[in-house]
Amino acid sequence: MSALADFQNSIYLQGLGDVRPSLPTDPTKLEGLAEGVLSAQAFGYVAGSAGSEATARANRDAFDRWRIVPRFLRDVAHRDLSVEVLGTAMPSPVLLAPIGVQSIFHPDGELATARAAGAEGLTMVLSTAASHSIEEVAEANGDGAPRWYQLYWPKDRDLAVSFLERAKAAGYTALVVTLDTFTLAWRPRDLDQAYLPFLRGIGVANYFSDPVFQKAVGGPVTDANRDTALLHWVANFGNPSLTWDDLVFLREHWHGPIALKGVQHPDDARRAVDAGMDGVIVSNHGGRQVDGAIASLDALPGVVDAVRDQATVLFDSGIRTGSDVVKALALGAKAVLLARPYAYGLALGGQAGVQHVLRCVQAELELTMALSGVTRPDELSPEVLVRA
Ligand code: GLV
Repeated sequence: MSALADFQNSIYLQGLGDVRPSLPTDPTKLEGLAEGVLSAQAFGYVAGSAGSEATARANRDAFDRWRIVPRFLRDVAHRDLSVEVLGTAMPSPVLLAPIGVQSIFHPDGELATARAAGAEGLTMVLSTAASHSIEEVAEANGDGAPRWYQLYWPKDRDLAVSFLERAKAAGYTALVVTLDTFTLAWRPRDLDQAYLPFLRGIGVANYFSDPVFQKAVGGPVTDANRDTALLHWVANFGNPSLTWDDLVFLREHWHGPIALKGVQHPDDARRAVDAGMDGVIVSNHGGRQVDGAIASLDALPGVVDAVRDQATVLFDSGIRTGSDVVKALALGAKAVLLARPYAYGLALGGQAGVQHVLRCVQAELELTMALSGVTRPDELSPEVLVRA
C-alpha cells in the first residue's frame, strides 16, 4: 500500500477520535468555500475566465464526456505513480501549475505553495507573475522537490534573460513558456470590478526585484518611482510580436528543458517540435484567454498524435479530481498541471490547505487507477476510456 492510500486510511482512523478533515475531500467543493473567505475581487480573479466563460465550462464538460471503464482481477496490489517528466523525477504525474498573484489568496502566497510542494515532493511551476520573487520562493521550496520556472516573455530581451538567469541560479530546472497570455483577455469578472492586481503592485515581485528592471526605472522601486515602475510593467509584460523564430533566443539563454504552454493545435505542436522544444503543455489557460475555444481535453489527442515521441506532452485546464487526471493521462498526457483547486486550498488553509488538496487528488488518482486495473501511469491508454 502506498503513502497515498494511507492518506485515505488515516482520515478514517482519525474519525474514530471524532476528527474530520477540515476541508472537503472532493476538490470540486473548494471553489464555493473559497468564495466565502476571499474578497470579491480576489475570488473573481481566480474563479473568473474569459468572456461568457464558455471555455471554462467546456473544459469541465469535456471530462464528463469521457468515462472510465473499470477492470478487475489484474493484481493491482503494488502501485507506483512515479514518472520522469522532462528529466525531472516525480512521485506522481501531478505538478502545481503556474498561478500568479497568490498573495491575494493568502498572505504567504507562493511561499506557502512552495512549502507545500516541497513537503509533498511535487514540482511547483513558479509564475513570472508571482507575488514573491524567484529567490524567495526557491528558499521556501527548499530541497524537498524539484521546481520549474514559468516565463511570461517580456518585451525587453535583457529582462527576459535576467529572469532566466535568476531562475537557473535559484535551482529551477525546466522552463515553461506561456504562449497564450501576451495580453490579458476580456475578463468580465475583473472588468466589472475594475480590478487588475498588477496595477496595485501585486504580482510584480519578480519585476521589481530584477536588476534589469530596476535599472530601467531609475533604481530600486520606492514610492518615488512606483508609478514609473508600474507603467514600465504595463509596457513590458507581454510581447504580441513574437514568432516561432524567436524560440532560438530562448534556446540560447536556457540550457535545460523547455515546454511551451498553451498549445491547442496539432500544427503548433509540430512547430514546437521543429523548433527543438522538449515539451508542449496542452492548455487554454483554464478558459481565461479565448472564450468559445475548444476544450483543452478535446485538443489533447490531436496534439499527442502530432507530437508522437518527439516531445513530452503535458496537460492543463479543467483538472479538478484524481479521476480527471486518469482521463488526461489515458488520452496521452505524461503528467498534468493542477491549478485552481490548490489556489482554493491556499485560500482556505494556507500551506496545509494546499497539501490537503494535493493529497486528495493524488490519493483519488491512485485509487481510481487501481480500480480501473492499472498500477502505473504508463499503463493508461485510450482503451481505459469510452465516450459517454
Ligand atoms: C495570468 O496568468 C492570469 O491568468 O491571470
